[in-house]
Amino acid sequence: MSATALVWIPALDAECGETEDNIEGPYYKGGAPERTALNEPGMKGTPLTVSGRVLNTACRPLSYAVLDIWQCDADGVYDNKGYTLRGKIQADKEGRYELRTIVPSPYKVSDKRYRPAHIHLKVSAPGTPVLTTQLYFEGDKWNAVDSAYRKSLTINPRDGRNGSKVATFDFKLKLRG
Ligand SMILES: [Fe+2]
Repeated sequence: MSATALVWIPALDAECGETEDNIEGPYYKGGAPERTALNEPGMKGTPLTVSGRVLNTACRPLSYAVLDIWQCDADGVYDNKGYTLRGKIQADKEGRYELRTIVPSPYKVSDKRYRPAHIHLKVSAPGTPVLTTQLYFEGDKWNAVDSAYRKSLTINPRDGRNGSKVATFDFKLKLRG
């Protein structure tokens, strides 16, 4: 390997285009606890780990960014009384985060329609506005009929250990101002 291969080369600007925002929906609740994982022992559902980085639109890490996350359970139900499957995950100094949770279920919004499976997030770091968005799942049949669904916000989990799923996603936030 030549020495030049070790030089840090910034990614192209296009690769750090701002992550799309998405509707907050009716189930956000402030005051979620800081956690290292949202799933709990014995919880129904397929374990899911989503990891990646929180970057600014110049592709630099946003140290200690906070991801305020909420989602429904494996039956499509939100905990609106407590904080099950709600929590704040903090990224590290390099902007790396790891969200351990379960795969949420689509949930019914009308007689004939479901929202596709999704995870809600509010992502922020010092110097950035709050990005309210959602992550969707590749292959969910309800993606095609959901007005909030965005291809750019879609993760494609692969099989992990012991029946779990693993996915990656990088969040890119513009700086305030
Ligand atoms: Fe939702």
